[in-house]
Amino acid sequence: MKKIGIASDHGGYNLKEEIKKHLQDEYEIVDFGTDSLDSVDYPDYGVKVAEAVMKGEVEEGILCCGTGIGISLAANKVPGVRCAVVSDTFSAKMSKAHNNANMISLGERVVGRGLALEIIDAWISTEFEGDRHQRRVDKITEIEKKYSK
Ligand code: RB5
Repeated sequence: MKKIGIASDHGGYNLKEEIKKHLQDEYEIVDFGTDSLDSVDYPDYGVKVAEAVMKGEVEEGILCCGTGIGISLAANKVPGVRCAVVSDTFSAKMSKAHNNANMISLGERVVGRGLALEIIDAWISTEFEGDRHQRRVDKITEIEKKYSK
């Protein structure tokens, strides 16, 4: 069973819970919090899933915050993470097929529940196409290496 990490801040908490329910029969879901609607800081939760992806503890990661943006910015600071903020199904598919996004981020205040679940399904079921896209993803990794200490 594919292992997927998930986390949110308070702004994405309700959507995180919906996504968990939607995926739990088909995937092993590891929930990194938050656990309530109490106000928290999104970087603290984005980094938890990103580190789990980086270490191979989970295969892929899903993040939610109000917009999907802040928590994805934090996740993308972790080497090896490619977290795409997505609010439509076409971009969800392309983020995997062309960019090999190993994490996806959604905004609870941006997309409704129904679309969000379709986005997740589109992303999870799409395979990376490799080939010329691998070369481009490798170039992203080279940029990352250039600026890491
Ligand atoms: C929290 O109010 C909100 O700023 C956060 O969920 C997210 O939208 C940040 O990018």
